[in-house]
Amino acid sequence: MDYEVRGASSIHGAFEVPGDKSISHRALIFSSLANGLSEIDGISSGGDVMTTMKCLRDLHVKIEKDKSGVIRVHGGGKFFSVPPDSILDAGNSGTTMRLLSGVLAGQKFESTVTGDETLLKRPMQRIIDPLSQMGANIVSSYNMTAPLKIFPSPGLHGIRYELPLPSAQVKSAVLLAGMLAEGETTVVEPVESRDHTERMLKLKKTKTPSGFETKISCDYVVEPMEYDIAGDISSAAFFLAAAAILPNSSVTAEGVTLNPTRAGFLDVLVMMGAKVEIQNIREAAGEPIGDVTVSHSDLNGVEISGDLIPRLIDEVPMIAVMAAYADGETVVRDAHDLRRKESDRIVAIVDNLEAMGAEVEELDDGFIVNGTGHLNGAETNSHKDHRIAMAFAIAGLAAHGKTTIRNAEWAEISFPEFFQILEKLVVRN
Ligand code: S3P
Repeated sequence: MDYEVRGASSIHGAFEVPGDKSISHRALIFSSLANGLSEIDGISSGGDVMTTMKCLRDLHVKIEKDKSGVIRVHGGGKFFSVPPDSILDAGNSGTTMRLLSGVLAGQKFESTVTGDETLLKRPMQRIIDPLSQMGANIVSSYNMTAPLKIFPSPGLHGIRYELPLPSAQVKSAVLLAGMLAEGETTVVEPVESRDHTERMLKLKKTKTPSGFETKISCDYVVEPMEYDIAGDISSAAFFLAAAAILPNSSVTAEGVTLNPTRAGFLDVLVMMGAKVEIQNIREAAGEPIGDVTVSHSDLNGVEISGDLIPRLIDEVPMIAVMAAYADGETVVRDAHDLRRKESDRIVAIVDNLEAMGAEVEELDDGFIVNGTGHLNGAETNSHKDHRIAMAFAIAGLAAHGKTTIRNAEWAEISFPEFFQILEKLVVRN
């Protein structure tokens, strides 16, 4: 699908976004491993989370949805009793493949996890290495990519694993395998990544000279839970950015997660000079949540690197667009892993911004945007990547002339309601 967007005069109103994608995946997986009935309210409606649900059903976990949209998961404990009848298909979802591999590594049966064309190119060595050190028996395709064939191992054992790169997916895969392994597993993160797994499983994290340490062992019992999923700050970010860019604009995202390991985007909005107000702070399933209002202000360029990167990794495409509408230089560094997401996001950002007339330079681990305050409407491409599709739809809202986003349907991977909410909030004269 091509999405066409023309300049809007402003964006206004309050909106709710669907449940957080990262938390939704985890709620489904953890509920499946619990002994008993869990309920999940406000789950993400995105394609990736539906993929996790389908894989768990293929593993014979009973999952039902009632009329009000509440999901009921009948967990049967940490060890699944029946092997899947077919290959498990993780679609476009790295989180599904990497977290499920951690669970499957400790099962008593053989399984295979595959994915779509994009996922089959993404690196899996980052999970194969620690899981193999734990005794897992995983055969990958050449280049350490999926499909992954996971054979039953005589038994996993705990390890101490220092993450070579900040990744919540790798951390979670090791912790999930750790709850099926003999002895203790310790994951050490030199730089903290999103901590939804630790919060949801109520694991203690300690700060040591080597970094943030989290431990788990086979004694860990997953309790059935009632999850109330927080709104997805990564989805809200597109409309919050639009309000920061477009004159006379103000929007409020209701009930989004303010988890500090996720909310780096809000820090960047403030650094760039946008007006940010947070109200009604409360808690949902162990996550701090609140209502975030962003209003337009003149934006300035910023430098983003180091420990801030994992706290906003999924928001970088949107930040790049904001940088073009800001005054002065924005530099993003230390974000090499952007090349390994649903697309090479550095290339996708640079290509699309260039098409819209921005001054942008590609770096190995990021980019430099020289903000001039305006962009021209142009033909852009989602690169089959949901976050690129949505970031450039917002870019088009403030541009001169018409912008087309080719393959915009990829937005459905995380946020099927995106275009509908956009049309509701936008004011056109
Ligand atoms: C995620 C972790 C991040 C993020 C992804 C979701 C998660 O990936 O980019 O969208 O739910 O754990 P990495 O773990 O590869 O950094």
